[in-house]
Amino acid sequence: MVRVVVTRRLPEGGTDPLVTAGHEVALNDEDVPFTKPQLCDAARDADGLLCALTDRIDDDVLAAGGTRLRVVATVAVGYENIDVSAAAARGIAVCNTPGVLDDTTADLAFLLILTAARLASDAERDLRAGSWPGWGITQYLGVDVHAAILGVVGFGRIGQAVARRGAGFGMEVLHHARTPTGMPGYVAELDQLLAESDVVSLHVPLTDETRHLIDGRRLALMKRTAVLVNTARGPVVDEDALAQALEDGRLFAAGLDVYEHEPAVSPRLLAAPRAVLTPHIGSASRATRTRMAHLACDGIVAVLAGQRPRNLVTA
Ligand code: DGY
Repeated sequence: MVRVVVTRRLPEGGTDPLVTAGHEVALNDEDVPFTKPQLCDAARDADGLLCALTDRIDDDVLAAGGTRLRVVATVAVGYENIDVSAAAARGIAVCNTPGVLDDTTADLAFLLILTAARLASDAERDLRAGSWPGWGITQYLGVDVHAAILGVVGFGRIGQAVARRGAGFGMEVLHHARTPTGMPGYVAELDQLLAESDVVSLHVPLTDETRHLIDGRRLALMKRTAVLVNTARGPVVDEDALAQALEDGRLFAAGLDVYEHEPAVSPRLLAAPRAVLTPHIGSASRATRTRMAHLACDGIVAVLAGQRPRNLVTA
């Protein structure tokens, strides 16, 4: 019987497509990431591996799959945790979950934009702590989101979904991508977009080129009144440089959902002023996480049926 190992707990019904296809499904119900030896063991006994972004699927894990392992599907759109080239060399297909989490992630990006710009997190914290003295005209003076310039970095599906929300809030929307998009608001130079924007929202995948894309030099180009939001991948931003900019008041606020060394969060960021920090919940609605799980399963079912999955990742 075809066997699929699921490395992490999924939402209820998440493996339905595998069950419907008649595959044996072995679940890690612990919701704790497998260790490397556990991942190797999982791969060793599987035709398919359904993994999460917290699993590092390197060549050792792929090698453990021997000639049996035919597909690895991650329940995420980002797949930097998988050595796609090594998988290709071994004839193992890789799948991800594009297109089903765009609006949910864009909603979270906008939540961070609004919360950071309006200092809502600080205000709520004080209220809960009983330290709100009552209304005051100079309290929690944020920056306006309406009529501000939104700079979207990376203009794939999620970036475009954030841009639509920005337009709905009456923002002027600029965007930057490596290749010209031919769409209104395109800015060829990232530095220029950073200098002109009041709010910058990051939507690039993590690659060698985007690691520390937003570093100290680029943060210094941003307006002192600007807000930076990252719902992409933590290492896209140099966290130390960001903490420094917030500490120095050289950047108004930041909203982060992702971190350089997850699940660790830099103590400097935790202590930085006007930083809104959420724990990688961009796609975390029940409906979306279930859609993601189903799409990853669909990829496995297709590969194991000898078909080309619609969510195939190519090296
Ligand atoms: C993704 O899909 O890459 C997200 O980060 C998971 O929520």
